[in-house]
Amino acid sequence: MKSIATLLAATALTATSAQAVDLEVTHWWTSGGEAAAVAEFAKAFTERTDHTWVDGAIAGSGGTARPIMISRITGGDPMGATQFNHGRQAEELVEAGLMLDLTDVAEAEGWTDIVFPSSLLDSCTIDGRIYCVPVNIHSWQWIWLSNDAFAKIDTPVPTNWDEFVAAGPKLREAGIVPLAMGNQAWQTAGAFDVLSIAIAGVDAWRKVVVEKDGAAAAGAEYAKVFKAAADARALRAGSNVQDWNLATNMVITGKAGGQIMGDWAQGEFAVAEKVAGTDYTCLPGLGVNEVISTGGDAFYFPKNGDPAVEAAQKELASVMLSKEVQVAFNLKKGSLPVRGDVDLSTANDCMQKGLAILAKGNILPSGDQSLSPDTQGQIEDLMTEFWANDSITAEDAQERYADIIANAD
Ligand code: GAL
Repeated sequence: MKSIATLLAATALTATSAQAVDLEVTHWWTSGGEAAAVAEFAKAFTERTDHTWVDGAIAGSGGTARPIMISRITGGDPMGATQFNHGRQAEELVEAGLMLDLTDVAEAEGWTDIVFPSSLLDSCTIDGRIYCVPVNIHSWQWIWLSNDAFAKIDTPVPTNWDEFVAAGPKLREAGIVPLAMGNQAWQTAGAFDVLSIAIAGVDAWRKVVVEKDGAAAAGAEYAKVFKAAADARALRAGSNVQDWNLATNMVITGKAGGQIMGDWAQGEFAVAEKVAGTDYTCLPGLGVNEVISTGGDAFYFPKNGDPAVEAAQKELASVMLSKEVQVAFNLKKGSLPVRGDVDLSTANDCMQKGLAILAKGNILPSGDQSLSPDTQGQIEDLMTEFWANDSITAEDAQERYADIIANAD
């Protein structure tokens, strides 16, 4: 027979854990499309639970926001939940014992049967325990083309990278910047990675980025990539913007012919009420190698110690993965859901292309899932220099890149 004290304590804990909590959620989703999407999470959490979503948006790119998130967690001022990308960005925080173990929720809800591809949950798993909830699949492997820009130069909208490059001079003559690209490290490094897969092919890319083979990075296939990157650098001249969504806006308004960018760009076209296939065209894999890379986002929950907060954190994880919320969030975000059992019939032409590639299994891990944040940082630094400085030749850049890969972890 349980003592009265034990029963009272259990009741108190239950009462506490049902206690309403204000949960601060940090993320870097501040563009129009991103804000519309994250509002779906906030609405669902506040409507479906007794808790309140306290929005902790951090302006700027992930590269700006992540150091702030990490220093708050390591500095004893943790938020309730935070965004990181799929992969290894929170690896050290988990290993330091600072992040909440979600395995009980994951097992109770069957996440291993729900999440597709399973590699997304693998990226949340360390020593057999699950520490994050994947919320979307964002693929970098796209170029977004302005149908207006190509109509202006009386040229069919390109169907692949070579046709896009060939249209460069006519776009220039018409006062249109061929390639829009913001001047931030993650954008130039991301675009380079997309060119790698399109130009060198999936096998060569895997050898370099997944197997970290320095010789392959120094080889003939990647020499073609660096040549294409030098071509792209010339096409990008005049794209004088910083943030990715300002570069996307150049395509939306026809000031640029195209942008190599992840499919979060779709959120911006949606907010501008542009229609895929009518106002803009998307080429997965630059129309060369149609693949989906599993970039995207997951939410992690710093340990808090208060059972009520921990219960609210686990409820948020559950809400984010629920069917209805997965559809509502991803349709606004321009990303694909992390579960295959949802109805996306309302997805637009470009999302349907992405879903078809996903269904075929033409899936690659993202660089964030393969390389350490330190190696990613070195590549971003090299790309910042290369894309900003014409005096760095393709050969010089390739030599330095191969050295980074040879020493990658
Ligand atoms: C990525 C993130 C996307 C997107 C993008 C630009 O790292 O996965 O959700 O928003 O940053 O902010």
